[in-house]
Amino acid sequence: MPGAIYAEGLVKTFGEVRALDGVDLDVPEGTVLGLLGPNGAGKTTAVRVLTTLLTPDSGKAVVAGLDVLKQPHEVRRSIGLSGQFAAIDEYLTGRENLQMVGQLYQLPAREAKARAAELLERFNLSDAADRTAKTYSGGMRRRLDLAAALVVRPPVMFMDEPTTGLDPRNRLQLWEVIEDLVAGGTTLLLTTQYLEEADRLAHDIAVVDHGKVIARGTSDQLKAQTGGERIEVVVHDRGQIPTAEALLAAHSVQGAAQSGVTVEQHTRRLTVPVTGGAKLLAEVIRELDSRGIEIDDIGLRRPTLDDVFITLTGHGAEDEETAPAEGDATEAAGGKKKRKSRKQKKEAVK
Ligand SMILES: Nc1ncnc2c1ncn2[C@@H]1O[C@H](COP(=O)(O)OP(=O)(O)O)[C@@H](O)[C@H]1O
Ligand SMILES: [Mg+2]
Repeated sequence: MPGAIYAEGLVKTFGEVRALDGVDLDVPEGTVLGLLGPNGAGKTTAVRVLTTLLTPDSGKAVVAGLDVLKQPHEVRRSIGLSGQFAAIDEYLTGRENLQMVGQLYQLPAREAKARAAELLERFNLSDAADRTAKTYSGGMRRRLDLAAALVVRPPVMFMDEPTTGLDPRNRLQLWEVIEDLVAGGTTLLLTTQYLEEADRLAHDIAVVDHGKVIARGTSDQLKAQTGGERIEVVVHDRGQIPTAEALLAAHSVQGAAQSGVTVEQHTRRLTVPVTGGAKLLAEVIRELDSRGIEIDDIGLRRPTLDDVFITLTGHGAEDEETAPAEGDATEAAGGKKKRKSRKQKKEAVK
């Protein structure tokens, strides 16, 4: 049975640009799909097609059991879209904005009022409820916009980059609101450029690039696909680095001949690629101990979603015609720019 959001072979072109190039999606009821991808990947186009705002060139989409192409009006009544449907009126107060949405959806006046009050409370807007929206900060506007999308408790929600441009505190608040919403049974499709957002909120992740889904799975599955589990050790005494290196090399997945251990002399940090997880970590700790090597820090590091993304889209900037190169050169060239912008975003979140 198809999920609450289902798409098959969606294609949408704008002139030369294939914004969607055969997208398949299936989001089980009550779960969150994170649509992850760089700028221009096709995320917004996918959301616009699924929410009936844009007609695809070909393909099929079913949302909340309704055919997006054949029953657009019914679909619209069953969904919430944050950021687009809900036009916030700057000259109305937060409360009036929400009540107006209720009226648009033909809720009885008393119900519209109660619902507005409930949402204002839930989104921490009660204190500002009777101020005009034009006095609201960016974060407050986002919350009001999201509240407006929730007036009619849609079973399926779409959020296109809901936290872009928010400061860290507001982003965290919004994440909590979204988690609440999903705990209440809503199915959600969320697009984001923030990997930590997908990591935290999404049950499943679909990575899109150039209008195609290039990978999908849970965050853990994607990380496992990328591989790259490693043990990092910081030894206390620089003089013990060679002994520690030899010990770690014996556990390297690359085999002792090639060692595979990287050593950073100034931080006294040694890193070795491994498989075997926590069990191996415990073994390494015992071995280090039995040789009298004092350690300041040790840990098992798994790849981050960042690593996954760079690995997947590192050659994303390459021409589609040329076979994707596996080599490091492509990674370095294509991946570096993204790595930097990701890092900047990460810092923005901190
Ligand atoms: N209305 C439009 N007219 C022309 N090109 C568009 C239009 N909307 C999107 N595109 C193009 O389609 C591609 C995908 O865009 P979009 O879906 O907005 O990506 P994302 O949301 O992932 O950043 C981009 O190359 C973009 O320039
Ligand atoms: Mg977009």
